[in-house]
Amino acid sequence: MTIPTLAAEVLPKRVFSGVQPSGALHLGNYLGALVKFVALQNQMQCLFCVVDLHAITAWQDPKALAAQTREIAAAYIAAGVDPNKAIIFPQSAVGEHAQLAWIFNCVARLGWLDRMTQFKEKSGKHKERASVGLYTYPVLQAADILLYKATHVPVGEDQKQHLELTRDIAAKFNHDFEAPGFFPLIEPLIAGPGARVMSLRDGTVKMSKSDPSDQSRINLTDDADVIAAKIRRAKTDPLPLPESIEDLKDRPEADNLVGLFAALAGETPAQVLQRYAGQGFGQSFKPALANALVQTLAPFRAEMRRLLSDPAQIDHILQEGAQKARAIAAPILEETKRIVGFGPG
Ligand code: TYM
Repeated sequence: MTIPTLAAEVLPKRVFSGVQPSGALHLGNYLGALVKFVALQNQMQCLFCVVDLHAITAWQDPKALAAQTREIAAAYIAAGVDPNKAIIFPQSAVGEHAQLAWIFNCVARLGWLDRMTQFKEKSGKHKERASVGLYTYPVLQAADILLYKATHVPVGEDQKQHLELTRDIAAKFNHDFEAPGFFPLIEPLIAGPGARVMSLRDGTVKMSKSDPSDQSRINLTDDADVIAAKIRRAKTDPLPLPESIEDLKDRPEADNLVGLFAALAGETPAQVLQRYAGQGFGQSFKPALANALVQTLAPFRAEMRRLLSDPAQIDHILQEGAQKARAIAAPILEETKRIVGFGPG
């Protein structure tokens, strides 16, 4: 048996990321993920997956799932991902994801998964009623990434622990099967003020589609009036905007709104404060923030509408993407199976 010894450093740089087709997208998904995808597509080979296998870890109406998958693909494109540059595809169309996930289920340790905070959050008080898939979800996520030997993974901060697990699985596989450098130790790309967008009602919890209050988030489908109203009502504190970012430390809501402004304007939070320090939030900061959101999201929404009016075109992009993804994945899975010791078949 020949075991490849390609060092991780000489692997080509490749980006992988994914979004679940499990409900409406919000500003956190946009700033934490989609915007970064667009920036990366000119720098490295990129695969952007619609992770429908992940979505069914919680119940999805089969009648709606295909449409939700198209919507995520449309959102990638509306945000600026070019299907001629990046590979856009549905996870379930590339069977290799599930096959590698099984091998990784046998590499990952129960103790590692027991520590995953997202499972605890999502399963709530009744973990015995959660699907087994929800529990092993981070193993599938590791398979998504390593199936392509991706080196860089742009995500929001909530995915940090899953990416650490991906590194642990890669290292243990390489070690246990004496295949040094076979799977790369990935580089998480989690920087910038958009990586952690918090709820508009509580600056200590992340903006999330599962929050029961719609006022807590900006949905990417919200129109200008709804956006303006949500920002007007967004929780703040009675103090004016401070002079320096250090003074935002114990003011989670203020910190979040300044971070949002910075992410949208392509500035640093310090630059935003320079303009608004000393003013109350309602004076000109909130109207300007609402305006910046509308300026960004109105063209996005219009482009989504245009794309979704031609579902056949999106399906075509997804099918072509799946073909390209399979072409990269198949030889890597074959090699993995050889390393594990599976016979010819
Ligand atoms: P998902 O579908 O929950 O979210 C998609 C992306 O949006 C980011 N995000 C946020 N970023 C900043 N602030 C927020 N409030 C916020 N909420 C969500 C997420 O970090 C993510 O980047 N497990 C993943 C999907 C996945 C994946 C992968 C990602 C499956 N396989 C492989 C990367 C690589 C998830 O559930 O994302």
